[in-house]
Amino acid sequence: MKLKGRNLIDPNDFSIEELNKVIGLGLDIYKNPSVYSDICRGKILGTLFYEPSTRTRLSFESAMLRMGGSVLGFSDASTSSVSKGESIADTIRVLDGYADILVMRHPREGAPKLASEFSSVPVINGGDGGHQHPTQTLTDLITIKHYKGDISNLKVAFCGDLLFGRTVHSLLKTLSRFPNMEFVLISPEQLKIPQHLKEDLLTQYNVTITETDSLESYINEVDILYMTRIQKERFFNEEEYVKLKDSYVLCKDKLKEAKKDMLVMHPLPRVNEIHYDVDHDPRAKYFEQAKLGVYGRMALMALLLGVVEC
Ligand code: NCD
Repeated sequence: MKLKGRNLIDPNDFSIEELNKVIGLGLDIYKNPSVYSDICRGKILGTLFYEPSTRTRLSFESAMLRMGGSVLGFSDASTSSVSKGESIADTIRVLDGYADILVMRHPREGAPKLASEFSSVPVINGGDGGHQHPTQTLTDLITIKHYKGDISNLKVAFCGDLLFGRTVHSLLKTLSRFPNMEFVLISPEQLKIPQHLKEDLLTQYNVTITETDSLESYINEVDILYMTRIQKERFFNEEEYVKLKDSYVLCKDKLKEAKKDMLVMHPLPRVNEIHYDVDHDPRAKYFEQAKLGVYGRMALMALLLGVVEC
């Protein structure tokens, strides 16, 4: 197992053992931040965000700053040379001379993979179109480990936009590799998980899946409820979005049926799918989840840069 110099484009790039290593280090940093506050002195993170982001970009920045390193980059492609027609390959060939590690978010599926082929420094996928979002998955795994103690024997419900939600695709693929996991996939008919992902889950990973459109029927049996926003920007027409946007709204009342130790997770941003009255319920973990994501990203960068041995 060696993570130094590697890329993270797809969550399956890392074995379970490697993921556990990152999760373990992330939780150690969370508990003992001062031990790690200087390990990236002299290192530079380059952030290439071709698509809007609040949490992912800022949590990467926070992660690097909390380890004593520095950050440069852009969060609006229209202010970079991309607007002049520069290719990803050229941008990367220049940027890898300016930074020691790069994180890229792009609306086109596969763009971070392409970037990694031209980069001499590690590239991390910060979300590519409706495809994958491996560092959100890391955030989710750390949260589950922290609150459940172990990532195994859990029944997890995913609710909302399972078609376009890249956080769902990445997490489902990853959790399927952990022992004895079971999934309930709750969505309107039009927003079910892509067929190819379903086939992979059933044939490659051999997991149990239940597909339904009813949150009420399953909320009482799951250990984790992963809510997601309907991905407005990936719809082809506004009318269809408007029809589906309020398909699910989790509220205090619905939670009455849920297990006392169920976790409510959400990658954020939330739109309407979780009512504010849920925020004070001890099961609501989405803000803690966002915070834990910083520590997961610290661990990931420390290992890819090789400043912590693995
Ligand atoms: C997610 C994303 O960008 O895919 N946000 C995030 O990174 N936390 C989820 C979303 O936008 O709905």
